[in-house]
Amino acid sequence: MTGPRTLRRLALRVVGAVRRLTGRRADIDYRRWYAVWDLERDYWTIVGPATKEEYDRLSRVKLQLLMDLGLTPESKVLDVGCGTGLLTAALHNFLGAHGQYVGSDISPEAIAFCRLRFPRPNFSFHVNEMTKLPALTERFDFIVFFSVFTHTYPRETALLLQQASRLLAEGGIIFADLFTAPLIEEYTGDRSAVEINPDYLMHLLEGSGLRAELIDMQPRPRLGQRLFYTFTKPNEPEA
Ligand SMILES: C[S@@+](CC[C@H](N)C(=O)[O-])C[C@H]1O[C@@H](n2cnc3c(N)ncnc32)[C@H](O)[C@@H]1O
Repeated sequence: MTGPRTLRRLALRVVGAVRRLTGRRADIDYRRWYAVWDLERDYWTIVGPATKEEYDRLSRVKLQLLMDLGLTPESKVLDVGCGTGLLTAALHNFLGAHGQYVGSDISPEAIAFCRLRFPRPNFSFHVNEMTKLPALTERFDFIVFFSVFTHTYPRETALLLQQASRLLAEGGIIFADLFTAPLIEEYTGDRSAVEINPDYLMHLLEGSGLRAELIDMQPRPRLGQRLFYTFTKPNEPEA
């Protein structure tokens, strides 16, 4: 029988083969993946981790990272690209009754899965479009993009960050990670792994009012680095 892991491997091989044969970019489409995936059987591989244990470990790691940035049980969090709820699971236990969690993803199947998995009144989920966040009236203390900009092209990334900036509460923080390709002028790769020159992203963000700060970096074996950024909106000086 064909399992989800085999399907994922097959999809990646097809993407690679098309690229080699045609020299053209062949995009991975998360929406299509989720549509054929059996999330009841395996909800971790599709978002990266090979095992449920690794998924649960990363859930704790990501919660700790946000706590180090000042997350409290009362925080309001928007988790863009929430996937199957890796971060949601940790926040489900951490956030109190006055906290709030909103998850969004481009996949309706992922969102339906999360709605069933996390039935708390202050937890809600929305489908968003590739470059358009859900129309929300709330303002958030944390807006996080965990392993999302590794799958979006720089102009999409910049558009998402600009919209996130409008949903940020005063003093709020946007968190995002990305793969870097410092020797490439703009970016390289496709949706399976987009690698960007950070200077190019900062150039696209000019005029957005966002201030970027590099807070951490991790080596990717033979593949450059994963950079962790926060983006904040400094207060406008009083006129
Ligand atoms: C590698 S997974 C990471 C999921 C989750 N953030 C985590 O840390 O486990 C990438 C997720 O981003 C979603 N995604 C990709 N592009 C997106 C976009 N433009 N807006 C929202 N979600 C997006 C995918 O559907 C997928 O669920």
